[in-house]
Amino acid sequence: MARDWATLPKVELHLHLEGAAPPEFIRALAAEKGLNLGHIFAADGSYDWADFSEFLAVYEVATSVLQTPEDYTRLSEAVLRARAAEGVIYTEIFLAPQLCAADGSAWADVFAAIREGAARVPGIEARFIPIAVRHMGPDDALRVARIVADTPGASGFGLAGDERQYDVDAFAPAFALAREAGLGLTAHAGEICGPESVRATLDALSPARIGHGIAAARDPALMARLAEEGVVLEVCPGSNIALALCGSWAEHPVAALDRAGVGVTLSTDDPPYFHTSLAQEYAALNEAFGWSRKTFTRLNRLAMRAAFCDDATRTRML
Ligand code: ADE
Ligand code: ZN
Repeated sequence: MARDWATLPKVELHLHLEGAAPPEFIRALAAEKGLNLGHIFAADGSYDWADFSEFLAVYEVATSVLQTPEDYTRLSEAVLRARAAEGVIYTEIFLAPQLCAADGSAWADVFAAIREGAARVPGIEARFIPIAVRHMGPDDALRVARIVADTPGASGFGLAGDERQYDVDAFAPAFALAREAGLGLTAHAGEICGPESVRATLDALSPARIGHGIAAARDPALMARLAEEGVVLEVCPGSNIALALCGSWAEHPVAALDRAGVGVTLSTDDPPYFHTSLAQEYAALNEAFGWSRKTFTRLNRLAMRAAFCDDATRTRML
């Protein structure tokens, strides 16, 4: 069924580069380097985690295998080829300088390598949004924002990681610096925490987009605010279901958010971790809510309006 949706041109605004690494890719690279990763794989070869905290821990161990710019070129080429094969024509890729270039001096080389890998793939346009990892703290986030602002090539700046850690206000200086540098802003919020986290994020960081934001569906006044302010949500239903933040596709709040006039877009977050693909997400949403090509095309047009790209790219895409 997923194959039907592969022919529809799709836009994906929320895809983590490290989180899109297939387990086979990480296993092969670990073998080449003689690294022992411990117990991050299940018997069937997939990533093995049981809850949000474990997911983040496994993610960081798997990412530790990526060590050189060449590793990143291979990964970004593989990730972009997989997205292009399922009909994604434009994507915005999150990547974490704290994980791929802990020593900031390596960032320019690693980032150039990532862009080179992406440029090898025809039929798909990519933009890059370096993110600060929230549980690594606000001081380090400010350091990352500075590095990102000083290195040409990024389209945005974001905040991901464990939303339960630190007061979001502490990240305001990093976001102010990124805004000053002309970067588009997005922050994960309302994924594992409630509507108050989304509200606090809007107040503290004024991002153009929120990663996930699904908790807003529990708060009509907040949905009205998001709609009124035109803040767009990067919704990743399969991720939310896999992480047990939402019971089932039929119960997922994406349809209620859309009905309330909130701008929603559709993404996969970390597809191999959640056993999903964007084409599979469309198939599941079609089944759960009867969403048709017409609905998906509307959401893809909205995604391009919210994309961190120039107007020429925007109109060329959809
Ligand atoms: N980093 C990668 N995937 C993430 C998610 N779903 N939530 C927070 N941080 C992440
Ligand atoms: Zn994410």
